[in-house]
Amino acid sequence: MDLQGLARGGVTESWMAGRGTQVTVRRTRVQDGAGLRAMVDALSRESRYYRFLTGGRVIDEIVAGLAAPGDGGVALVVVAPDEAGGQTIVASAEYVVSGQIAEFAVVVADAWQGQGLGRRLIARLCELARAAGLHGLRGDVLSENRRMLAILKGLGFASRRNPQDSYLHEVTLALAQPARSAQRLPADWFSAR
Ligand SMILES: CC(C)(COP(=O)(O)OP(=O)(O)OC[C@H]1O[C@@H](n2cnc3c(N)ncnc32)[C@H](O)[C@@H]1OP(=O)(O)O)[C@@H](O)C(=O)NCCC(=O)NCCS
Repeated sequence: MDLQGLARGGVTESWMAGRGTQVTVRRTRVQDGAGLRAMVDALSRESRYYRFLTGGRVIDEIVAGLAAPGDGGVALVVVAPDEAGGQTIVASAEYVVSGQIAEFAVVVADAWQGQGLGRRLIARLCELARAAGLHGLRGDVLSENRRMLAILKGLGFASRRNPQDSYLHEVTLALAQPARSAQRLPADWFSAR
């Protein structure tokens, strides 16, 4: 895969997902708004809650943000062929930049979960953030979201219960360290961003 190409938006990466369908990851485009809305609206209540902390309708500004990660940010989607010969968005991941730190989140459509899409998207975000010279990635994960926490542990993230909110785990990855290092960040890392 050409990471620089993916960063610029020109290059995509395709592979065979777990159930034998060819899927493609690419940069999110402004025109993806309707596709992202459709994916978010079709999420199960649990997936919506895990990603957006609501079981209800996700507001338009939040969905628009999935395609507009701001200066220095990166947004990726995974698309799969649909029955009409088009492409459907089946996963979305992005990071927004705050100082030298990237704050990330990811969601995979329910029918596509457990096929490696989430892990691959997070790995790509880590690579892109590292290539951009960012110092670290952080995120908030609901403490009950064992799948997400297991994936992040496998990718080298450290996690701890958020001191301000026991329902959340704060997950961090120091990008200055080798890719799979599980080095814990200093306690004041949060405030030093
Ligand atoms: C969490 C999420 C992004 C993961 O993406 P995914 O494509 O489903 O996950 P993957 O297929 O890449 O990886 C699944 C891994 O989790 C593991 N796993 C699955 N269920 C698990 C569980 N209950 N506990 C621990 N590990 C679990 C699997 O064993 C697999 O690991 P393996 O590849 O080593 O076998 C996706 O499930 C999702 O969108 N969930 C709802 C929204 C969400 O939670 N977003 C994160 C918000 S911070």
